[in-house]
Amino acid sequence: MAAVEDRIKVLREKIRRANILYHQHDAPEISDAEYDRLVQELIALETEHPELITPDSPSQRVGAPPIDAFRPHTHITPMLSLDNAFDEAELRAFDKRVKRSLAMQGAENIEYMGELKIDGLAMSLTYVNGVLTTASTRGDGRQGEDVTPNARTVRTIPLRVDHIPGTIEIRGEVYMLHDEFERINLERAANGESQFANPRNAAAGAMRQLDSRITAKRRLAFLAYAVGQPDALPVEGQHDLLAYLNKLGFPTNPNSKKVLGIDECARFVEEWRDKVHAQVFDADGLVFKVDSFALQIELGNTSRGPRWAIAYKFPATEEMTVIQGVTWQVGRTGVLTPVAELEPVFVGGVTISRATLHNEGEIERKGLMIGDKVVVRRAGEVIPEVVSVVSHPPDAKAIVPPTRCPECNSEVEKQIDEAARRCVNFSCPAQVIERIHHFASRNAMDIDGLGGKIVAMLFSNGFIADAADLYALGDRTEALSQVEGMGELSVRNLLEAIEASRARPLDRVIFALGIRQVGETAARVLAMRFGTLENLEQGTEEQLQNVEDIGPVTAYEIHEFFRRPENRHLLERLMRHLTPQSTSTAGSAAFEGQTFVFTGTLEQMSREEAEALVRSMGGKASGSVSAKTSYVVAGEKAGSKLDKARELGVPTITEQEFLDMVSSAT
Ligand code: IVH
Repeated sequence: MAAVEDRIKVLREKIRRANILYHQHDAPEISDAEYDRLVQELIALETEHPELITPDSPSQRVGAPPIDAFRPHTHITPMLSLDNAFDEAELRAFDKRVKRSLAMQGAENIEYMGELKIDGLAMSLTYVNGVLTTASTRGDGRQGEDVTPNARTVRTIPLRVDHIPGTIEIRGEVYMLHDEFERINLERAANGESQFANPRNAAAGAMRQLDSRITAKRRLAFLAYAVGQPDALPVEGQHDLLAYLNKLGFPTNPNSKKVLGIDECARFVEEWRDKVHAQVFDADGLVFKVDSFALQIELGNTSRGPRWAIAYKFPATEEMTVIQGVTWQVGRTGVLTPVAELEPVFVGGVTISRATLHNEGEIERKGLMIGDKVVVRRAGEVIPEVVSVVSHPPDAKAIVPPTRCPECNSEVEKQIDEAARRCVNFSCPAQVIERIHHFASRNAMDIDGLGGKIVAMLFSNGFIADAADLYALGDRTEALSQVEGMGELSVRNLLEAIEASRARPLDRVIFALGIRQVGETAARVLAMRFGTLENLEQGTEEQLQNVEDIGPVTAYEIHEFFRRPENRHLLERLMRHLTPQSTSTAGSAAFEGQTFVFTGTLEQMSREEAEALVRSMGGKASGSVSAKTSYVVAGEKAGSKLDKARELGVPTITEQEFLDMVSSAT
């Protein structure tokens, strides 16, 4: 018996150590298989000797047999909610209230802690002499539901901590990482089960399982951000509390920061505005807390929440709505893109009624139908998209791609190696309008005031039939100003903008042509290599392929483009009007000698394109972060490289900030 007890002790210690190394330090010393063997051995011994099971045994993490219902749990200190601020004025009003209550209206600045507001499920963990005895949801703030067996399955919730005598409530959030959320939804789709709308719902669903063995299969995480009894710990403020909790073994968010005064709070908000939705978990805002516990006590609470804290909410980027129909939009290369017509919904700060469905493959992968209740997302400048289905009504209708072009009724073809269907008619009005629109767009010829609507109007009134016609509009000023909505002034401005575009650099002209596969980066590379449009036009497929960063597919498309008589004709006419400046081969001062590392998923280009762009500007692209890295560009779901950058103090920028750097350098 003593031998069994000893072995159990050894196993528990090994498992505990492995957990800490794995979850807190990201530095496992044993393999997953070895870990599983230790747990299995422990469970086997405990099953044989149930009298030896303790509540803090790591075996409890695999879940316990189902219970009939949750028992109510009364919190020792009530769990309050937070007041919200939705803009800077409301944030400043909060600071004013704080100062007024403390009679500190003078010049002094209050010290606040700025933290991320994790979107999960609030949890109160009660530790008695260091052992986790109860885990409870918030409930009505006074009384919650006892979900202890479920909480024990969460690997980052310590089952035992040293050095906290007595009884203490540790508060934090149980949440789910995006990767895990996607894994579970895929698994559920495969089993024909409904999808979770978001990671929060998935986490809440997992925490409210009566069978904790199910909870154990959903990999949940925990972050601590408060305690019910701050007096019980040797710390005097929120900043030190987080550090202390972290030392005890509780995960805390490393992005928390002490900020002095409301101006720094506002700066913290701006720092996070674009980044908050690019984390590996859902965060819907920030929380600002008066740092000093003494001041917190002085401020006290209202019935709703503490007077010393406020939640700053960014506009939600995801909402639920209904797909009322699907239209197929014809792009400049003839590709048909399905667009969902939605019941209007307020998301990401604006009302949206349409969202891209990308392509047929995506419709199939997400299992979308007309009539479905869906989750839509809009973050920053990104085009709204349908993320997933919440439910199909019984009368949901299949989304059927058209067999004829919705714009010109021409045939639609689907090439075997392509995901998309295309309208085959080169003169399809929708394609022509989109080609001209692209030609005039900001990153191409940058003709101010020539948006999609104006292009469509000029086209349908017979003023232009292709991009070259733009440069003949000057002869028709009179007729133009007769058109509805085109006053004399707007005509003059438009003509001036067209005039100014004649001397755009060669790379912009190449990009403006809209050759398939040729984005801004490839256009830059081609401009530098060939020097003139004529040289490019005459380049052989082999020469094209030999250009760095130009692959065989792109080379083929460029060659094909210049073989088509209609393109040659357009080019010939265009060249009568344009005098492209040569694209500088000198690189740009902003990029020269700078090293960029890209991490996470970029929205607007692939990582390879971004790296080629850096090289074309005279900079270097690298795969790993070091002290020599100049910038880390973090896309969606950026991971360890971002952490490394923060550790080394390397500046991190968003994809948009990177693109802004590129545009201001060209
Ligand atoms: S402090 C009295 N800090 O947001 C202090 N809450 O809207 C109460 N939350 O119920 C909480 N991240 O579930 C705090 N860093 C953070 C948080 C946070 C997320 C949640 C929490 C709370 C809700 C209030």
